[in-house]
Amino acid sequence: VFIILTTAHDPLTVSIGFSILAGITTWSAIPALSEIFVKAGLKGMDLSKKTKHIIPESMGMVAGLIYLVTMFMFIPFPFMKWFTASNDGDLQELKLLTFPNLKLAELLSALLSIQSMVFLGFADDVLDIRWRFKMPLPAIASIPLLMVYWVHLGVTHIVVPIPLRPILGQLIDLGALYYVYMGMVAIFCTHSINIMAGINGVEVGQSLVIACSIAINDMIFLQSVSSGAPAIETHLFSLYFILPFIGVSLGLMIHNWYPSKVFIGDTYCYFAGMTFAVVGILAHYSKTLLLFFIPQIFNFLLSAPQLFRLVPCPRHRVPRYNRQTNLMEPSRVVLDEEDDLEIEFSSTRQESKRALGRSASSVSLSSTEAGATTQDSNESHRESDNPQPSTTTTSSFFQDFRPLKNSKLKRSGWYCVKILEALGLTHVRYDTKTGNRPLEMTNLTILNLILVKAGPMSERNLTISVMVVQFCCSLVAFFIRHRLVAFVYDV
Ligand code: UD1
Ligand code: MG
Repeated sequence: VFIILTTAHDPLTVSIGFSILAGITTWSAIPALSEIFVKAGLKGMDLSKKTKHIIPESMGMVAGLIYLVTMFMFIPFPFMKWFTASNDGDLQELKLLTFPNLKLAELLSALLSIQSMVFLGFADDVLDIRWRFKMPLPAIASIPLLMVYWVHLGVTHIVVPIPLRPILGQLIDLGALYYVYMGMVAIFCTHSINIMAGINGVEVGQSLVIACSIAINDMIFLQSVSSGAPAIETHLFSLYFILPFIGVSLGLMIHNWYPSKVFIGDTYCYFAGMTFAVVGILAHYSKTLLLFFIPQIFNFLLSAPQLFRLVPCPRHRVPRYNRQTNLMEPSRVVLDEEDDLEIEFSSTRQESKRALGRSASSVSLSSTEAGATTQDSNESHRESDNPQPSTTTTSSFFQDFRPLKNSKLKRSGWYCVKILEALGLTHVRYDTKTGNRPLEMTNLTILNLILVKAGPMSERNLTISVMVVQFCCSLVAFFIRHRLVAFVYDV
């Protein structure tokens, strides 16, 4: 690495050297800092292990800080030719005239936005900020970036796909709406990684697949574009940000992989999401970026009924760990209480007790907004996920689609449950007496869906499955971006 750094003449080679250094530093710093984090109260309980042990949390802070230090040290390199210009008077003047001030502003504003998100993520880990407050913050953190975008690029039009051109013309100028869209991209990228989380290695795993896809996409462009084209600059810029990110993520992944020795915390999720948003916005390929987020978009749409409280959303939606089998199973959320009559009619005393226990646990499950954020509430969620009783029946979609009057679910929630069930995206357990009053359903996340479809599996295999899904979606994204695109755009 030292040889690369001392002999390299181009910034990309320096960036590769810095990224390797950043990865090694992250890998070696984490074990050294683990105890300090635990002493400072930055720790969490691994929910999916036989013995509940506490491990350091927010280790994304270490990765984020090393990333920022690396990037700060890298700042002079893309501008090296202006530094090394002779002190000759004419050249000095030329330097002042040609120095790309806006490029430097882009680099600095991008780092400011990423740094703000590392800070916010850490605050979230420490203070457990409520969703309604933390939701818009990435858009605010991206304002410095959008400001530089406005001054430098200012492109707010989108190219209309060929089939729609007779109606809409070749270009549509979105004006201010384009900035709103970019703010939304920042919000989406950060939060979507944070909600596809909760099992060892899954957050870093998905981020690494996305980051590698971005890097490969940049390299494809660098190979195909003729030298001197503006696209070269933007894709190089993207690589300068992504390569050190891959470095620190690999260093972190070694410790976060199953069985995790450290948790990455919200700090890493926000840091990763903002890094992706930054390169997507400044390198002007936010649509391609979103193609690499297909699993996260799907997970967000699937989660929407819970996120927008159409159906209850527990504090933790991660799959349930079964101590007996050592496998992960889909976790469930209580939608309604078991019918009292059913408890009365239960043939054995033991069955009544089980039904009552499940009713009581539903209170803690739907208390996210009431601030149920402690590990105790995680535990009550765990306890409620008892294996299904043998009396379970499943109503068919067409059996009765009218919401029941005595159901605790809102009408909109009822329709959501029925539609998601019909699409095979959740498994619903119904009241045995009426046969069509939904009592429980599997939580609406891609992790639970994989388990509903493929059956129980180990935590490690579930993380690998998510990474395989992410990888396959990246292949689809490449196919759309580099093959199908010719049918809808002039390339
Ligand atoms: C988000 C999800 C929540 C999920 C949680 C898991 C939404 C709306 N929120 O909440 O459903 O349960 O992430 O991170 O979808 N943990 C493990 N093993 C791991 C990683 C985390 O057990 O490999 C547990 C630990 O107890 C850790 C906690 O998850 O302390 C971290 O949760 P946190 O990041 O604070 O949850 P949110 O991001 O708020
Ligand atoms: Mg989180």
